[in-house]
Amino acid sequence: MRIPMIAANWKMNTTVSEAKKLVTEIHQELSDIKNIDKVICPPFISLATVYELTKEGSIKLGAQNVYFEEKGAYTGEISPLMLTDFCKYVIIGHSERRQYFNETREIINKKIRTSLSFKLMPILCVGESLEENEAGNTEKIVAGQLKSALAGIDYPNGLILAYEPIWAIGTGKSATGEQANKTIGFLRRNINELYNETAAQNVRILYGGSVTDTNTTEFISQPEIDGALVGGASLKAKQFISIVKQAREIKNQTSS
Ligand code: 13P
Repeated sequence: MRIPMIAANWKMNTTVSEAKKLVTEIHQELSDIKNIDKVICPPFISLATVYELTKEGSIKLGAQNVYFEEKGAYTGEISPLMLTDFCKYVIIGHSERRQYFNETREIINKKIRTSLSFKLMPILCVGESLEENEAGNTEKIVAGQLKSALAGIDYPNGLILAYEPIWAIGTGKSATGEQANKTIGFLRRNINELYNETAAQNVRILYGGSVTDTNTTEFISQPEIDGALVGGASLKAKQFISIVKQAREIKNQTSS
């Protein structure tokens, strides 16, 4: 059985004091909740503070980005080695990084490799644009992104995938549960082809794109969807707490 996961991607939001306030509320409600992994990905500058406030409990942290070298003259970058003090996870290949920061498939592959070598678990994001979706190319695009990101990697133990259709991010226009389930099932079959059935059954695949506390059930009740990567709604403590609690209920029911 795959343990469900809800991850909060705060993106470039929250000052350190805002992060403190937000995580304190979330921690109070969620740190004792079992049978679901809760991950918070704050901005780099708040990682140490958020870590101090959550280390006594079950909430784990993730970074929103990482560089692919261990250390050296790379002004402004953060290495996987630096993150391992605070984080268990790192988001890699988010469409905002591909789009605004020119992250190529090759860079994403390097970031995945280096992170895995530091036992920092990547949450690898894939997803198609609106044009690609409308042209019927969703599967071709996500399969290509997946294959290139994992090139040369023997066995991606602990890898997490997130299917985030670009047209659903921050737009309020989410995919339907069925659409997301279909693409996520397709990604799982791709993992089977690239590795084997065990890897496919073990890999957790999240849906991301306008997930809120009112549409959580639609996604989480789908058999292939193991959780959600939440942007905007994760900045509101009440909403995020509700998403986690709903997801846990639904997955517990389906597994019992
Ligand atoms: P929204 O939930 O704001 O659409 O963002 C999704 C996302 O990009 C999470 O990584």
